[in-house]
Amino acid sequence: MEVFVTAGPEEAARRAARVVIEAVAESVAAGRAPVVGLATGSSPLGLYKELALAVDRGQVDFSEAYGFALDEYVGLPAGHPESYREVLVAEVCRRVGLAPERLHVPDGSGRNESELAAGAARYEELIRGVGGIDVQILGIGRNGHIGFNEPGSSLTSRTRVKRLSSRTRADNARFFESLDDVPTHCVTQGLGTVLEARRLLLVATGASKAPAVAAAVEGPLTASCPGSVLQFHADALVVVDEAAAAGLRNREYYDESAAGL
Ligand code: GLP
Repeated sequence: MEVFVTAGPEEAARRAARVVIEAVAESVAAGRAPVVGLATGSSPLGLYKELALAVDRGQVDFSEAYGFALDEYVGLPAGHPESYREVLVAEVCRRVGLAPERLHVPDGSGRNESELAAGAARYEELIRGVGGIDVQILGIGRNGHIGFNEPGSSLTSRTRVKRLSSRTRADNARFFESLDDVPTHCVTQGLGTVLEARRLLLVATGASKAPAVAAAVEGPLTASCPGSVLQFHADALVVVDEAAAAGLRNREYYDESAAGL
């Protein structure tokens, strides 16, 4: 795992954008359509803006790329502005020129467990069908969740329906009119699914993320902190600003490593 600590969120966004741009270039060089795993939440928004600027400068092109969302709420009507499909169309597709038809999002429209399970299985097939995800962008919840894999999620889990924790629902209530409007369930890529991406890129900024970042990067590999699965991946990058890095004990070594060979 590599850890990059930046002075602030803007620099974190620029550093993370470079990683995505490199991954896209590598896929194109290998003759494959780039496949980018997309996260919602506020953490990657700066990164998406930087990617849009890079597109404008002609440094990267997403017209042939596929996007795969990490997760989706269950039960929101199609077109709901807070559905992760709509959020990603607005924040990513429109900004970087990724065609909405090439954006795949887990299917949260199933009316019961078996329909949702069938949709989740189709999602896994879709990811396999494009040859896997080149770079998976991740945020992290204050309780250590990635995607919507709440603490206790199996480290080998696949895309499936999950209940949201009350803490996550409270955190996400700011996007809805009231807490009661926040869905209770979601469909999320599993931790095993996430681990199959060729590269993982976690972005976290701000003091509220410091405990989760410390637990994910330096705590034990445990289902109690789903973000700790990054330790189990051969090519995982963590980009954090000073505030989010505050709980890291091994900071000096990360800075030395970031200085290069
Ligand atoms: C949501 C998303 C996660 C995201 C997390 C943190 O629960 N499902 O993918 O990482 O929130 O969000 P934020 O970046 O806004 O703190």
